[in-house]
Amino acid sequence: MGAVNVTNVFKRYGTKRALNGVSLSASKGYITAILGPNGAGKTTLIRIITTLINPDQGRIEILGKDPFKEKNVFNKIGYVQELPNLPPFLSGKELLSLSARLKGVNKEDIKRVLELVDMTENADKKIAKYSKGMIQRIALAEALLGCPEVLIMDEPNVGTDPILNLKMRDVLNHMRREGVTIVMTTHELEEVRKMADKVFFLFQGKVFFEGSTEDLVLKFLGIRVIIETQDGEALLSLLKKLDYVKNIEFESNKFFVELTEDSREELLREIVMRGIRVKSFYLNQDLEKAYEMAIREARAK
Ligand SMILES: Nc1ncnc2c1ncn2[C@@H]1O[C@H](COP(=O)(O)OP(=O)(O)OP(=O)(O)O)[C@@H](O)[C@H]1O
Ligand SMILES: [Mg+2]
Repeated sequence: MGAVNVTNVFKRYGTKRALNGVSLSASKGYITAILGPNGAGKTTLIRIITTLINPDQGRIEILGKDPFKEKNVFNKIGYVQELPNLPPFLSGKELLSLSARLKGVNKEDIKRVLELVDMTENADKKIAKYSKGMIQRIALAEALLGCPEVLIMDEPNVGTDPILNLKMRDVLNHMRREGVTIVMTTHELEEVRKMADKVFFLFQGKVFFEGSTEDLVLKFLGIRVIIETQDGEALLSLLKKLDYVKNIEFESNKFFVELTEDSREELLREIVMRGIRVKSFYLNQDLEKAYEMAIREARAK
């Protein structure tokens, strides 16, 4: 069982079905990403996990407890909500002080979290005067107060700059090594590719796919290799003869080759045996393309 378990959750808003039987499990010490197009139900799911709204049906379990019944489990959870709505009349530091008091966290920790998100210099400024990235940073700092065992974030990368993203990756990797369970939604596929151990792909309130990002690419994009060569003609005539080559596209010296099965080694051997000069040969790991194909497939169902 994971540190966060969602079992068969349903949620309607009036006649609109937002969640239609979602189950997922986030393992302890892993980063789990929830992906899906706008309106897929990600925020609804996160709000149910954090008990801000009730499910119509289904169960949530965090660290072995039902958060709807055992509210003290929230002492171990950090949460960054989507587009954080923070009190504008407080400074970042005042917000963190208030939050530390509510969470029973030592005031010393405020300094640590401010440094983690690079907000020490702006800590005394009123939230009303923050840029959207600064708001995102302070919301993150608040979630990190008291070293939570579970960190839940709804689109933490909205409006954050590349330096914070880089830093966040370090912070999250460090937390993961310490055994913190991280569940996040995001549309930033590059972050997902670099960080997520597992992804759940939501579509119209259902889990359409679960697995690693590699699995996602292999499943929806297939096995596509990119080959750069100066011997285009020789390569093309070889590719046309191979029965495991499903599709061939090319742009000048670059070939995009789709294979029916994982015959990468065999293909490379054939190329070398024929003395075809190859500059590079690699698997197409285009997560954006795989995402697009996944959505196309989900829509066609
Ligand atoms: N308070 C609400 N009242 C009515 N419908 C809602 C409400 N909140 C969400 N919905 C609807 O439920 C569905 C799921 O919305 P949700 O916000 O969970 O999607 P999301 O996956 O987080 O999307 P995004 O990527 O845009 O953040 C959408 O169709 C949305 O219009
Ligand atoms: Mg959302």
